Amino acid sequence: MAFVSTFSQFCLFFTFLISSSIAQTTSFTPKALVLPVTKDSATGQYTTQLSQRTPLFAIKLTVDLGGQYLWVDCDQNFTSSTFRPAECNSEVCNLAEYRVCGGGFCSLYPYNPITNTATIGQLAQDVVSLQSTDGSNPGSIVIAQRVLFTCGSTSLLEGLANGVKGMAGLGRGPIGLASQLSSAFSFSRKFAICLGEMGVIFFGDGPYNFLPDNNVSQSLIYTPLFINPISAPGSFFPREKSIEYFIGVKNIKIDEEPVSINSTLLNFFDKEGNGGTKISTINPYTMMERSIYKAFTSAFAKALSGVPRVSPFAPFDVCFNSSHLGVTRVGPAVPTIDFVLQSPTDYWRIFGGNAMVQVKEDVLCLGFVDGGLNPGASIVIGIHQIENNLLEFDLARSRLGFTSTLYFQRTTCSNFNLTSNA
Ligand SMILES: *[C@@H]1O[C@H](CO)[C@@H](O)[C@H](O)[C@H]1NC(C)=O
Ligand SMILES: *[C@@H]1O[C@H](CO)[C@@H](O)[C@H](O)[C@H]1NC(C)=O
Ligand SMILES: *[C@@H]1O[C@H](CO)[C@@H](O)[C@H](O)[C@H]1NC(C)=O
Ligand SMILES: *[C@@H]1O[C@H](CO)[C@@H](O)[C@H](O)[C@H]1NC(C)=O
Ligand SMILES: *[C@@H]1O[C@H](CO)[C@@H](O)[C@H](O)[C@H]1NC(C)=O
Repeated sequence: MAFVSTFSQFCLFFTFLISSSIAQTTSFTPKALVLPVTKDSATGQYTTQLSQRTPLFAIKLTVDLGGQYLWVDCDQNFTSSTFRPAECNSEVCNLAEYRVCGGGFCSLYPYNPITNTATIGQLAQDVVSLQSTDGSNPGSIVIAQRVLFTCGSTSLLEGLANGVKGMAGLGRGPIGLASQLSSAFSFSRKFAICLGEMGVIFFGDGPYNFLPDNNVSQSLIYTPLFINPISAPGSFFPREKSIEYFIGVKNIKIDEEPVSINSTLLNFFDKEGNGGTKISTINPYTMMERSIYKAFTSAFAKALSGVPRVSPFAPFDVCFNSSHLGVTRVGPAVPTIDFVLQSPTDYWRIFGGNAMVQVKEDVLCLGFVDGGLNPGASIVIGIHQIENNLLEFDLARSRLGFTSTLYFQRTTCSNFNLTSNA
């Protein structure tokens, strides 16, 4: 997989453009910000809340790791004395690859990946407020004066959790929320997500301290992030530059034994940008291209052949009678799954709690799904596999830091102390 070395230069350029057009006026300068996250039980989506506009108005948003930017429904109840539409041919308008101009104003195409729909909507700037953090608690509220976002429509909210009014796009592009907040407050171009029943998103530098007294920053393992040079597979717009987060999985091991898979599929292998491994907060379970899925599930079933199998339970194919499985601190006692990265000693290990899904009282299924023959990315690491793992996306250094399961450290993503110490 070819690493695109010009990425840092590309980003420096955009950071410069953005810092000149977003100002923050809070006297206190935060080192980092924090957003609390909740899992919506009906949809499984991760939602967060931030305040926008003047007067400030709290908006609930679905978190989209691979989304381009913040978009909100401007059709209903949008009033703000600080709303500023972006003009055609302005610096900020020209940052977006897909844009249209009308009446002198710039519009983009906000996208909902759950229904795979987009609408046209004005690009604009407005005040956004959220809480700072010292890494252990939320602190003072800070305000960024001109955060870019796009106006979605009410119809674009279809498929999103109840009460949600838009999406928080954390993609690596120039108008992603992470790039904008780091330029507004001049902190590192970095963010971290830690998702569970509850969870948190940090913007800026760590530490990341969870109760009872765990400095999770100490256990991060790093691996390069890759840019799909051609397009984001499955993206709505053809040839859109990849703003999603890809990692270089080289092979998969089960109980340290390699699974035999076609390694070509793990690279970006064709002119459409198919292939590779990306991380998503939209897919509920890790999805694999069919041949990888078949090899993976049969190797896992073989490694656990001593445990009675039971009938498949859609969307899963490999299910076991859980009364025959032990339980450990890190979940059901099943074979370990390793996504092997840049060298055989660098791997993301998945334990029982992130591998298995309880579907009935005595039935546990392997929580991975068949992506079919042409899924775009060959592996999409989904929500169930990243829960209670902290993932740090360092855009400046183009690397991912990951912890593996926090259960080993006797904490979870729900254990961030949300009591403000401001
Ligand atoms: C608009 O705001 C009013 C008053 O706060 C509220 O009653 C109404 O439900 C809101 N409408 C929508 C669609 O959010
Ligand atoms: C947490 O760990 C990081 C990395 O080892 C270290 O730099 C930092 O000082 C620690 N912070 C706290 C509050 O213990
Ligand atoms: C591996 O996958 C690539 C891409 O789909 C395909 O062209 C190639 O024939 C496959 N190789 C084998 C041995 O199946
Ligand atoms: C699981 O195994 C137990 C004990 O052998 C048995 O009583 C139970 O019916 C089994 N459940 C299923 C779903 O097969
Ligand atoms: C959470 O933080 C608050 C404010 O610093 C502190 O008073 C409280 O003791 C903390 N909670 C726990 C469980 O440590």
